[in-house]
Amino acid sequence: MLLAQSTWPEIEAFLTRSKTVIIPIGSNEQHGPTGLLGTDWMCPEIIAHEAQKDADILVGPTFNIGMAQHHLGFPGTISLRPSTFIAAIGDWTRSLAAHGFEKIYFFNGHGGNVATIEAAFSELYAEASFARQPRGYALKLRNWWDLSGINRLAQTQFPVGHGSHATPSEIAVTQWAYPHAIKTADYSPTIAPSGPIREGLDFRARHPDGRMGSDPALATPEKGGELVRAAAAALITEVASFSAEPFLV
Ligand code: NI
Repeated sequence: MLLAQSTWPEIEAFLTRSKTVIIPIGSNEQHGPTGLLGTDWMCPEIIAHEAQKDADILVGPTFNIGMAQHHLGFPGTISLRPSTFIAAIGDWTRSLAAHGFEKIYFFNGHGGNVATIEAAFSELYAEASFARQPRGYALKLRNWWDLSGINRLAQTQFPVGHGSHATPSEIAVTQWAYPHAIKTADYSPTIAPSGPIREGLDFRARHPDGRMGSDPALATPEKGGELVRAAAAALITEVASFSAEPFLV
């Protein structure tokens, strides 16, 4: 079930049978010469939208702008600074919790978001801790590639040239979902350099075409489809187990 394509009475009815919501979260940022700017929000959205066809789960609107300051040397990148991102995650969560959602599962597609999302969770829990009150809801963060079996599948598909940014696995997922938007380029070098992540101009100097350690030419829509199907199944299993976790206070 997709929240954006539901009405409020449908959400009210859903809350009588489940108090869990999945929020795909990502980033709009450069993904090398052939990767779509939306790659990092598209991947969790594609997987979550696929999963909700097979299970009675609710997927919220995609949080599609994240912490991507290091990619701002490339046109099309849009970033929130960490403090803005923390504030926005807080208000999304408070809105959902106000209506009775008790398990809020952030399904992430951008490694650069992780530290800030975890900090946002700590801010929300701290409000309850200082007040010596139960929070009343639980938060979980999962990167789509860290779902059970997915890293292993990606390593099998792309044993060389996977890298860490503009990876063939994430490009493959978007190719499967948006075959009309597949791009090609002559990559030089074939496998991009790796290096530290600092400010935007430093990033562009180290990674001139935007890739980090990857060879996106290895991506195919078929491999993307394998990843989506495996990740959707793993997502359903993990969300069921998160939903079943009891509250102790
Ligand atoms: Ni990415």
